[in-house]
Amino acid sequence: MALLRIRKYPDPALKQPAQPVENIDGEVSAFLDSMAQTMYAAPGVGLAATQVGDARRLVVVDTDHQHPGQHLLKLINPRIVESEGSILWEEGCLSVIDFTAEVRRASKVLVRAWTLDQNEIQIEAADLQAVAFQHELDHLDGKLFIDRLSRIKRELYRRKLAKMLKEGKADGQLPSHVRI
Ligand code: NI
Repeated sequence: MALLRIRKYPDPALKQPAQPVENIDGEVSAFLDSMAQTMYAAPGVGLAATQVGDARRLVVVDTDHQHPGQHLLKLINPRIVESEGSILWEEGCLSVIDFTAEVRRASKVLVRAWTLDQNEIQIEAADLQAVAFQHELDHLDGKLFIDRLSRIKRELYRRKLAKMLKEGKADGQLPSHVRI
């Protein structure tokens, strides 16, 4: 297993919509292990394959930061089949350095996905876990949380980032719980 390189905005790979996985094999399993390792090392609570430059519909999510590894989900071709409620959550992203913003999402979602043992499962998620699923599925569609902000907020971030990069001040430090 190796740590994978997390692509950072504005890397064009982040805009690439991912394609469904058609064979669940040892390579997919090994890749999901590397994704999980990369997510924990970052550290973050979710990672989509899109973020490491891979165009397959694969995500790892572990929002239980009290017990890392115990509630890790490795999901293949995940999709949201039901959503309800509304929640405003301060989001950050491993691919968006030095920035967080409140995003409105559904507060509960029902996710259907395939697992490595070739079963289709259903997961009911609420709060941070629901936010994480919606955020990761956005990644698979080539969308970042900053794409859900107003144009002016996104533009202000773009300018701040350009300035930070120019001055060498972008350190990527964010509280781990918001790095989705
Ligand atoms: Ni993200």
